[in-house]
Amino acid sequence: MAFNLQNLKATLTTFSKIQVVGQRTCESCCSSVPIVKNHKGEEISDCLTCENKALEKEMKAFKEEMDQQRDLDIMQQFERYSLIPDDLQTASFENYIPDHDSKKDALVKCQWFAENFDNLSGFHSLLLKGSYGLGKSHISHSIAKYLKDLGKKVIFIDTPSLLRMIRQSYKDSSFSESDVYRLCAEADLLILDDIGAEYVKQENGKESWVSEILFQIITSRMDKPKVFTTNLSSKELSSKYGTHGGRIVSRMMKGTRLIEMEGKDFRTQAW
Ligand SMILES: Nc1ncnc2c1ncn2[C@@H]1O[C@H](COP(=O)(O)OP(=O)(O)OP(=O)(O)O)[C@@H](O)[C@H]1O
Ligand SMILES: [Mg+2]
Ligand SMILES: [Zn+2]
Repeated sequence: MAFNLQNLKATLTTFSKIQVVGQRTCESCCSSVPIVKNHKGEEISDCLTCENKALEKEMKAFKEEMDQQRDLDIMQQFERYSLIPDDLQTASFENYIPDHDSKKDALVKCQWFAENFDNLSGFHSLLLKGSYGLGKSHISHSIAKYLKDLGKKVIFIDTPSLLRMIRQSYKDSSFSESDVYRLCAEADLLILDDIGAEYVKQENGKESWVSEILFQIITSRMDKPKVFTTNLSSKELSSKYGTHGGRIVSRMMKGTRLIEMEGKDFRTQAW
């Protein structure tokens, strides 16, 4: 209805005809509620306290839904940033060929880890260590696939991409650095592929940016499942992260089983 003087007059007339004719006690919240008669002579008695509570509940549910949708969008960002080559998209336990005893051992342990994910005791995390092309990313991606199919929240990201994503969060308004940390901390499983492959700038005795980020992420999941893959030894990782190095590696290894892999590089096998 367009606003004009006539409409205003009509509204005021309607209000002036509203009469309070009694009081009642709301059966839900026990507030005292006026009973009014409207201009048509009908009795109305809505409890404003209850109506406000219902509205508040609705707003809360709406906010929760928005937050959940936002988290889902950021989870997709992890997938967008992660450099998963096409050949890994189809990687699964079923198509992993254990052509060396250590690979057979890795496959059995990782499959067991995925199948018993909800009942792990004594340890909760894995570190797959070995040279290039042995299938570390293949097997850890298989763990991710298996658990995602069960509805678990899994983040699979290679470490250089995770750092790229955090750098981007400084410029991108759709997610913040703290969103990245929060989701990394909250996920059922965090898989940090290729840890140690990222470029770490040496900063003359000062903690580097990369070391601080890894320290924060790993510390936030100290007692929660993680899978790391790396080409480096603990000593090499430790020296890579400078002053923070020993503490990062020590936290990485808490509750973590080491799986060492050997054998031929699958990528250059045809040579
Ligand atoms: N034992 C295997 N059976 C089947 N496919 C394999 C096996 N090992 C590796 N591959 C395949 O070879 C490619 C390279 O393997 P992957 O990326 O898992 O190696 P990686 O150990 O992670 O190497 P890097 O240290 O360089 O990251 C992938 O396409 C992977 O699916
Ligand atoms: Mg790899
Ligand atoms: Zn009420």
